Amino acid sequence: MSKIQELQSKIDSAQLGGGQVRIDSQHKKGKLTARERLQLLLDEGSFEELGMFVHNRNKGITAEQEQFPGDGVVTGYGTVNGRLVYVFSQDFTVYGGSLSEPHAQKICKIMDLAMENGAPLIGLNDSGGARIQEGVVSLAGYADIFYRNTRASGVIPQISAIMGPCAGGAVYSPAITDFILMVENTSYMFVTGPNVVKTVTHEEVTSEALGGAHTHATKSGVTHFACANEVECIMNIKKMLSYMPQNCEDTAPVYPYELGNEVRPVLNNIIPENPNQPYDMKEVITELTDTDSFLEVHKDYADNIIVGFARIAGRSIGIVANQPAILAGVLDIKASVKGARFTRFCDAFNIPLLVLVDVPGFLPGTDQEWNGIITNGAKLLFALSEATVPKITVTTRKAYGGAYCVMNSKHIGADLNFAFPQAEIAVMGAKGAVEIIYKKEIDAAKDPEARMNELVSEYTTRFANPYLAAEKGYIDEVILPEETRNKLIKGYKMLENKVVNMPRKKHGNIPL
Ligand code: HXC
Repeated sequence: MSKIQELQSKIDSAQLGGGQVRIDSQHKKGKLTARERLQLLLDEGSFEELGMFVHNRNKGITAEQEQFPGDGVVTGYGTVNGRLVYVFSQDFTVYGGSLSEPHAQKICKIMDLAMENGAPLIGLNDSGGARIQEGVVSLAGYADIFYRNTRASGVIPQISAIMGPCAGGAVYSPAITDFILMVENTSYMFVTGPNVVKTVTHEEVTSEALGGAHTHATKSGVTHFACANEVECIMNIKKMLSYMPQNCEDTAPVYPYELGNEVRPVLNNIIPENPNQPYDMKEVITELTDTDSFLEVHKDYADNIIVGFARIAGRSIGIVANQPAILAGVLDIKASVKGARFTRFCDAFNIPLLVLVDVPGFLPGTDQEWNGIITNGAKLLFALSEATVPKITVTTRKAYGGAYCVMNSKHIGADLNFAFPQAEIAVMGAKGAVEIIYKKEIDAAKDPEARMNELVSEYTTRFANPYLAAEKGYIDEVILPEETRNKLIKGYKMLENKVVNMPRKKHGNIPL
């Protein structure tokens, strides 16, 4: 065999991972192989693999392990829509994608290159966890990855797709990254699996119910996307990347857009006359953003707040919006954390923010107080206050109490604050306010209910409007709803060179 033939034969064998039988078994489970996933993710012909021949060094605690070139992970770099990304894709056909020392070293090498060269890191996870035969060295490998994930946080975007098992401490690498995507029915994440759960807490639960995509998309919020299948998962990664810069020194790509008639008359009729009637804030988002450009993140979790990426006149923005159609758009613990985390991503990566406000306040009750709405609500306040990207607020209707301050008010650094004529900006809603300040008068009235209604109506006329805030300059402009898109286009353009110098510090201490 010539040297060239020898190389070709080594490559062919490496491409097969754990062998055809295991590849077939992977396909039977409805899963793609590590290499097939990379083919879908990366531009054709762009993948350059590094470390194809790295293999296990048999330092294991058991008898000799069978050796597979690559040792259960395919690593390298390539492009997505022409832009450089670094990737690792765990190969379940080799020891269940479990993490050995060389497997971890391959991932770390890619992470170091991604950091040094300022491009996103994408991890496609499909792994049985620590390589059991290797003992503590595989734990060390995990810790090496966690450390790098943490150092890379805020420097390069990091995206984790979970496309199979992800259990034990292995979950903490994805958890540190910016976004997690899971695949329905074939992926799960948990710290301890159903067997341990049964032993310790006597609960009977399936893997899917404990840590499947649906569970983490709706109950825990651990995953930002629950995808119907692997193809959808990879398409979501590609779409997400299109809104992001390569690193924290860069800005997101601008898509071609020719300005035309940006007036959106539909906006004049979305906010109902009755302030207690719900409406769907997503309709407002559709009108404000470029056609089909809105990518909702964390869609199934805390849906009383909406977060996601979009484009306005071709430029990326991040949207944080109350959703009056769910729980009247109230801010609770989950909504605050969801909004805060997304805000921090956008700020770290120079993506301007748009905050749409229709919020009656923070959710009252023992459940919220005992679980820390104070600390958790403060996360959103902190995140929006510390964000230095261009920040524009549009108050479509209610902005009451502390939630007014939190939702990107002028006082916490918003650059432009617009309000619709239907806006109600006050300390609290009319009924609550009247009950407190006119309690004695109402109690003493012949007809307390009638008097109360009168006072509520007076209060509403006087306070439930945007003009008191506009008189103080807290609102820069009360606008015709149909003009909003125009105002945003001009506003973001005006703010594109914004520079804010923060006080010197090591880092802030967000209330965790
Ligand atoms: C070595 C492993 C392995 C592991 C699976 N395999 N997990 N080899 N170390 N952790 C091997 C299997 O022996 C098998 O080899 C192949 O991968 C496929 O596994 P199957 O069991 O046949 O597949 P499936 O039925 O789909 O089940 C997948 C699984 C199961 C649920 C992941 O294999 C499993 O429970 N594995 C153990 C998981 C675990 O306990 N990991 C350690 C967790 S502790 P062959 O040769 O037959 O193909 C941990 C700590 C991390 O990870 C801490 C970080 C700080």
